Amino acid sequence: MACPNVSWGCLLLLLLCFAWMGDAEYAKYKDPKQPVNTRIKDLIGRMTLAEKIGQMTQIERSVASADVMKNYFIGSILSGGGSVPAPQATPAMWINMVNEFQKGALATRLGIPMIYGIDAVHGNNNVYNATIFPHNVGLGATRDPDLVKRIGEATALEVRATGIPYTFAPCIAVCRDPRWGRCYESYSEDHKIVQQMTDIILGLQGEIPVNHTKGVPYVAKNKVAACAKHFVGDGGTHNGINENNTIIDEHGLLGIHMPPYYDSIIKGVATVMVSYSSVNGEKMHANHDLVTGYLKSKLHFRGFVISDWLGIDRITSPAGANYTYSVQAGVNAGIDMVMVPFNYTEFIEDATSLVNKRIISMSRIDDAVSRILRVKFTMGLFENPLADLSFADQLGKKEHRELAREAVRKSLVLLKNGNTPNQQFLPLPKKASKILVAGSHASNLGYQCGGWSIQWMGGSGDITAGTTILDAIKSTVGDATPVVYSENPDDSLMKKNEFSFAIVVVGEPPYAETVGDNTDLTILDPGPDTIRTVCSALKCAVVVVSGRPVVIEPYLPLMEALVAAWLPGTEGQGIADVLFGDYGFTGKLSRTWFKSVDQLPMNFGDPHYDPLFPLGFGLAINSSQPGFSGTRSRGDKKEITVWAALSLLLSMMIAWA
Ligand code: BGC
Ligand code: BGC
Repeated sequence: MACPNVSWGCLLLLLLCFAWMGDAEYAKYKDPKQPVNTRIKDLIGRMTLAEKIGQMTQIERSVASADVMKNYFIGSILSGGGSVPAPQATPAMWINMVNEFQKGALATRLGIPMIYGIDAVHGNNNVYNATIFPHNVGLGATRDPDLVKRIGEATALEVRATGIPYTFAPCIAVCRDPRWGRCYESYSEDHKIVQQMTDIILGLQGEIPVNHTKGVPYVAKNKVAACAKHFVGDGGTHNGINENNTIIDEHGLLGIHMPPYYDSIIKGVATVMVSYSSVNGEKMHANHDLVTGYLKSKLHFRGFVISDWLGIDRITSPAGANYTYSVQAGVNAGIDMVMVPFNYTEFIEDATSLVNKRIISMSRIDDAVSRILRVKFTMGLFENPLADLSFADQLGKKEHRELAREAVRKSLVLLKNGNTPNQQFLPLPKKASKILVAGSHASNLGYQCGGWSIQWMGGSGDITAGTTILDAIKSTVGDATPVVYSENPDDSLMKKNEFSFAIVVVGEPPYAETVGDNTDLTILDPGPDTIRTVCSALKCAVVVVSGRPVVIEPYLPLMEALVAAWLPGTEGQGIADVLFGDYGFTGKLSRTWFKSVDQLPMNFGDPHYDPLFPLGFGLAINSSQPGFSGTRSRGDKKEITVWAALSLLLSMMIAWA
């Protein structure tokens, strides 16, 4: 050997090299066999401040790119309402977009995957061709937590179909005033009904294992992380004004608005979103006592707390007046991830300098990042960061549409049926000489879906694939029975034709959030005229498509039957299924139906309770084909006692007068 010394030296160097490489390759945080807390600790120990603050930053897809993800260590992206990669984008286009951003995140030094979130609040509703389920107010009327859990399962699959692992749902607001523009996002005015409906979390995230530690998030493989929102008191604001102030004592807050959070946490919800609203004048986004003191310390919630969209900006008024203060107050209150969503450089700069000045402590940052990483590790994002096409065929699939149709059937509440118990009008006969269908909502898929459907505000007409109520009626009665549709007919149409009866479908136009705040609660014009004209000339059933109870008492005597259909979504067939008796009516009001708006707010149990139809009201008829028995039965016995009888009597008296 020419140079033994050199060879020995080389060998030693090589060995050292191998040892170092092995060490670099094995990182505890990358090892799925390590306990989650060990992985978190290991990873946090390796992270710089910039990497930590990046994890806490959520940006909108419109400002995201692989480079932004990589350069700013961004931890999360969202689609805002209606924010899509392209109009009518296919699952493949969604997946490519999400993966593209994810590759940027994975290309960072530590390769921490980002988590992509979307408002799948009634199905994966931003996505073209997705199944759109009834909004929560309708699901509350089903009183069927198992159904809602199955909707959660289907929604998880349709969200995964687009490569997305996280949804900002469910909204567990307890809406105490229907003037609130988000009332339809609430299952009920009764917290007990909302509590039951938190079973949707088990559908979205998967059934929680027995002996799972309370408060620790749980998301099964291929499910999606859920988000209980908006913490807390969003449904209790003064006069139902969106993002306003909930004036309430501790007993009321903990007894009405908090209970659904107890259930959500027990069911392993991964994240909680803070409400824009205030509690007794204090913005929730700056409320350390409730976010850190109550949610995290007292309830032991171990997932992450996310702000709402520009939520910390709105701590000051006007919004964004002192962004540095907003960051300080929001993060110090206990917000872990900030839905920035656009000006991420400002957020990152402010947060960094606040930490450097020790106004935000490093332990607060580490708590925030630990929680975010806990969710990411738990759901297997590190092991499976990239999506593929294996769920693409789940989007809008037949089984999910059938499930939505079942939900529609069960959500319908029959409020009036005939003018006397012996003269029931529903179910309608399929064989009739001619049927008139009228009203602004009979042939409008966008209207029947409501807000948060394809667009943030919803839309009008053929916004996506689905079945309108008119199409559903036509296919139910078959070719032998002619169906004439006229949106707002005048007398002459009725005179020219011999109609057996009419179905009038009217309601509210689509809206979301503040745009939906409304002190009149009237149905969309010319709805009242349509009811008057048609129901004066023909026997008619009125179907109301709305996100909440609306003014209906003045027209009640004109109609034979009244059905509350809420915001049913894409599967309008469910309405015809029940109108024509293939299935019975089983829905019960999840909200009090007022007589006039000056009674509001008015909730079950209030001393001045004097509703048109009380919470829990809903006439039942069994399916009619064949041998329909025509029994009229009561709803939840406890809820409907005297009130039901009184309302019935009253509507009969009005009709007779
Ligand atoms: C977005 C929504 C968001 C809203 C907040 C809209 O522009 O599309 O997702 O909820 O702004 O104000
Ligand atoms: C809404 C949230 C929603 C977020 C993202 C906000 O305006 O209040 O419910 O999750 O936007 O779209």
